[in-house]
Amino acid sequence: MNPSFQNIQGTFDVLPDSYTADGNRIESSSAWRDVEGGIREVMRRFNIREIRTPVIEPTELIARSVGQASDIVTKEMFAFSRGDTNYVLRPEVTASVMRSYLQHHLDQKGGCQRLFYVGPCFRAERPQKGRYRQFHQFGVEIIGSDDARADSETIFSMIEVYRTIGLRKFKLRINSLGDIESRSRYRAALRTYFQPHVSILSETSRNRLESNPLRILDTKIEEERALLVDAPVLMDYIDDSSRDHFEDVKKQLQSLEIEFEVDLMLVRGLDYYSRTTFELDSPLLGAQSALAGGGRYDGLATEIGAKKDVPAVGFAAGMERLMLALAAEQIEFSDDRSVSVFFVGVGEQASDWVVRHAGEVRRKGVSAAFDLKGRSMKAQMKEANRLNAERVVIIGDDELEKGSVPVRDMNTGEQVQIDMKHLISHLT
Ligand code: HAM
Repeated sequence: MNPSFQNIQGTFDVLPDSYTADGNRIESSSAWRDVEGGIREVMRRFNIREIRTPVIEPTELIARSVGQASDIVTKEMFAFSRGDTNYVLRPEVTASVMRSYLQHHLDQKGGCQRLFYVGPCFRAERPQKGRYRQFHQFGVEIIGSDDARADSETIFSMIEVYRTIGLRKFKLRINSLGDIESRSRYRAALRTYFQPHVSILSETSRNRLESNPLRILDTKIEEERALLVDAPVLMDYIDDSSRDHFEDVKKQLQSLEIEFEVDLMLVRGLDYYSRTTFELDSPLLGAQSALAGGGRYDGLATEIGAKKDVPAVGFAAGMERLMLALAAEQIEFSDDRSVSVFFVGVGEQASDWVVRHAGEVRRKGVSAAFDLKGRSMKAQMKEANRLNAERVVIIGDDELEKGSVPVRDMNTGEQVQIDMKHLISHLT
């Protein structure tokens, strides 16, 4: 077969069995289900409930949330228009969750909203290992509390997902960006600091000097990194109440025995953050090492039209990166290939018998399979092996005549002769 169509670069098919494409290992659909099951189990423990929002949103929502000057909005959006409406395939989910919270007045439900999501996101980035154009995020948003315990609760739920699924090697870094005023004081300080060195800066960083100098701290360029050594640090500019809040978050994490490192240079690529920010990295992922990231975004609601601030904190994690990290730690995924009973039928009459009896077994809740291509007995036995069948029933004209069939236990190799009248109860 010579397919004329291929999936779009940076996207991939999840198949029943794992495979490798462009150097990326793509796990099986059952591995995906296992991981999603682990996420849902942890969410249940934390009393965090699911929200599902559309994958298309108004472009303006994302531009105002993630930030006009951010990489996502300037370069990475899959955006299109129909009539007067501008749409974007969501590059992340936080903006959608806040939109939904405001639209459905979830604040009136009492307490705070503890929400999680799992689903696809889209960014037009240059595809490479761990970085795709369609990828999947799971995330948590706790909306309605400015308490430091909401921050530690978010981080704890994130860590618990990784721990429950079996990942061992990851590192948590945290920082605080302070409130809006402290960040604007810090921006001014950064501009003053970088100004005399402008000739060393790359074009991207020179643009960022105006739009968002905090992002220069993210640079990977050697000469620019050297400049960062003496750059002012945000912690010296943040307001007292944010500083106290950060101390509280650290205390909460310590009491939960969550290991972390304070990284004063941790700024995030999205504009809506204030106060706490954090990132979880895996040492095994190479260039795209961020497993998950998040933080507090108390100002986002007003940015998208709310009359007053709504305190909120959350994280999102890349499912593909989690899968890559699990594979790198050699954690095995389960396999859903196996069936309980395989029916081998030789001859036309036997084949009809197989269809009926496999049907009865399935109706009783036991999995059963048989050949659909009229193949030889040898080929059918091979198929039974491939499917890890626990038992094989072998039927041909002789058996039909005798009224009894051999049932083979594929683990022990033992074979018993069963009267057809008792076969279904024997198998189920
Ligand atoms: P983000 O850091 O942009 O944050 O993305 C979160 C995670 O999504 C990353 O750490 C990474 O694992 C995964 N990810 C991002 N882009 C790609 C890509 N192109 N391919 C594969 N994986 C990717 C957010 O999206 C925020 N909404 C997080 C948040 C939630 N903040 C508060 N609440």
